[in-house]
Amino acid sequence: MAQPRRSVPLILDVDTGIDDSLALLYACASPEAEIVAVTCSAGNVDARQVAENTRAVLELAGRPDVEVAVGREAPLLRELVTTPETHGPRGIGWAELPPPVMPLSPRRSPELIVEEARRRPGEITLVTLAPLTNVAIAALREPELPRLLRRLVIMGGAYRVPGNTTPVSEWNVHVDPDAARIVFGAWARAVEADMAAGRGETAGTGVGRTSAEDVQRASWGNASPTVPRALAIGLDVTEQARLLPRHLGALADRAGTAAPALEARVRSGDAPPPENLVLRYLADALRFYMEFHETSDHFYGAFIHDPFVVAAALDDRLVRTEPVAVDVETGGAISAGQTVADWRHLWGRPANADVAVEGDADAFLERLVDRVGALAARRG
Ligand code: BDR
Ligand code: CA
Repeated sequence: MAQPRRSVPLILDVDTGIDDSLALLYACASPEAEIVAVTCSAGNVDARQVAENTRAVLELAGRPDVEVAVGREAPLLRELVTTPETHGPRGIGWAELPPPVMPLSPRRSPELIVEEARRRPGEITLVTLAPLTNVAIAALREPELPRLLRRLVIMGGAYRVPGNTTPVSEWNVHVDPDAARIVFGAWARAVEADMAAGRGETAGTGVGRTSAEDVQRASWGNASPTVPRALAIGLDVTEQARLLPRHLGALADRAGTAAPALEARVRSGDAPPPENLVLRYLADALRFYMEFHETSDHFYGAFIHDPFVVAAALDDRLVRTEPVAVDVETGGAISAGQTVADWRHLWGRPANADVAVEGDADAFLERLVDRVGALAARRG
């Protein structure tokens, strides 16, 4: 496979979180990623703890220079729910990290997102690994946000598969469905305005051009929008990536240390901790996550949603997508937080999202082992 293109400016919106922390390490380990900033959202743990975990992980990765901001500390309309049973009481499983010394940004997350998008129009890829609270506020403040970003990449939703929090809802959407609805709505409006103004291209570019898109174009004057649709990567694809103890063994090997010792530590806290601090962090954080998955999903391993999404944001060849109109249920006695995709074009709306329907999990896991292993070697 050819190498992915160079220098992708990224803003990562996180609720760190075990898989968020691995996503941060992946981004730090990726030569083509230019991390412009990291914005924190409440989700897996409260927003202050997210900011603490995020900075501690960036310091572990040797990136204390990255700007880290906090935004609104609660969902738009609902009470915050967190998930200590999945990520541990502080969000990093059994791991312990020194308190961070790098300062928090004086900017609030939505303000940072809008300012950076305006400063570098068409350049920044905003990757959300958390509830969409910050992005919803940013989109309300700056309706041109969909056009100012190079792309929005969302970890969120369950499009053709069951949810992981309710039978129909994925966690990030579940925590703040009102924000998710605002974000998908903002992208829908931008696409519709674009096509209504005749700015669409008859031969557009990008991911996911399929016959479904032709159907969309047929009802919208043979044009596809110039404003980029959101790339939405939900459980349909992220649950294809199962990190197992053997992957951590391979990662230790890549870092130049003994694979069996790391595998032993990820299986039991009684095994001696590795000296390499990145490997020690990974073993202790992921042991908690794997124990959770063993109970809830019946395998000793972990779905690593967020790093897969960062990897796809850096190289969209890792996923196959289909363009579709997406909306979010915010009411509904049993369906709040459902991401509803109109696969049969019954609404007659243009697609606001490219939804990932397939992913190359093996290529992703191989890349993760290689990159994060190399980072661990450097930091060791
Ligand atoms: C998402 O929920 C969170 O617990 C994970 O960090 C991920 O972003 C998966 O549903
Ligand atoms: Ca997350």
